[in-house]
Amino acid sequence: MILRLALVGFGNVGQEFVRLLLAKREWLLRKKGLDIEVLAIATKSKGSLASRSALDLDKVLDLVKREGSLRAYGPESTNVAPLKLIEGSDADLMVELTPLNIDTGQPAIDHIKAALSSGMDVITANKGPIAFAYDELRDLTRARGVHFRFEGTVMDGTPIFNLVERTLPGCEIMGLEGVLNSTSNFVLTEVAMGKDMMEAIRETQAKGFAEADPSLDIDGWDAAAKITALANVLMDARTTPKAVDRKGIRGITREDVTRAASQGKKYRLIASASPDSNGVRLQVQPRLVGPDHPFFCLDGTSSALTIRTDLMGDITVVETGPAVTQTAYAVFSDLLLIVEAIRSGSI
Ligand SMILES: NC(=O)c1ccc[n+]([C@@H]2O[C@H](COP(=O)([O-])OP(=O)(O)OC[C@H]3O[C@@H](n4cnc5c(N)ncnc54)[C@H](OP(=O)(O)O)[C@@H]3O)[C@@H](O)[C@H]2O)c1
Repeated sequence: MILRLALVGFGNVGQEFVRLLLAKREWLLRKKGLDIEVLAIATKSKGSLASRSALDLDKVLDLVKREGSLRAYGPESTNVAPLKLIEGSDADLMVELTPLNIDTGQPAIDHIKAALSSGMDVITANKGPIAFAYDELRDLTRARGVHFRFEGTVMDGTPIFNLVERTLPGCEIMGLEGVLNSTSNFVLTEVAMGKDMMEAIRETQAKGFAEADPSLDIDGWDAAAKITALANVLMDARTTPKAVDRKGIRGITREDVTRAASQGKKYRLIASASPDSNGVRLQVQPRLVGPDHPFFCLDGTSSALTIRTDLMGDITVVETGPAVTQTAYAVFSDLLLIVEAIRSGSI
């Protein structure tokens, strides 16, 4: 089977995903009978590529690394806008990897709608569309008889959506509680070790895991988008990040952290979803946890999610030391699940 892809967004995750495809090319052919071709790549400022046949992925990676641009690739180089590129592509599947827009989820929502409407399957690691437009995208997916997966939107490649879908059939999700923003957790850990908060924030940027705008992390917006995405999918919350009762870690001082430590406690930025009379209540708040709490030992960039179920009690999933490889793996695993669904004829 040949599966042809269009990649919209070709930054850290997009490039790592292509490296993963190259590393697994022989395995995919041998074990899965699957040949993956990339026909199109769209970026914001590095130029775009559109072709009727497979792009040379080694050449693409080399160009981006050496020149920071795709424009010198050859006649496949184009200035066509991403929406037109999607609509004009022969690809079977579009991978959406543009940055989070915390105000609207756009233009990623439109990219995904265009692909689904054109009959393409879609994978994204961008939480915006799931946080702002999950219902609409799910309904469009069903109406078009295609597939839409998004494991990488929360906790990188750690299975959350796929875990619930695949391994907890019949369980109802009664609530969610998680430490979902690595940057905030890293900063709180560093402050507990004596560092100044601004210094810790600068360190997360230097290490490359903070959002370009640190307020997305520090003011709880990233965690709000993630808990909204989780609640929309797992609890049918039908809401957006604007509805989250949100407070980030900005106001926490070193003195607060020291006082907590003297009481044997730690601050964690906790995102939660719980049913209430109006539907689902979403919160992001710094909270003090003691040694009996599952998030107490969660230092540094680790994250965790407790899934509260009716039949299986609480299940806590922990991710330690996340890296971009895990997000690329989320896209890769979604792709394999879509291929499995295509082959079995299921939606
Ligand atoms: N990095 C991670 O570990 C991680 C983990 C989980 C989820 N995610 C999510 O995955 C997505 C991608 O992350 P990333 O780290 O790869 O981001 P990134 O490095 O900033 O790359 C984003 C890519 O999207 C392109 N882009 C931006 N706006 C666009 C537009 N309107 N049309 C077409 N292309 C556009 C950018 O173009 P230029 O190249 O021209 O700038 C760039 O190629 C984000 O939504 C992020 O939240 C990332």
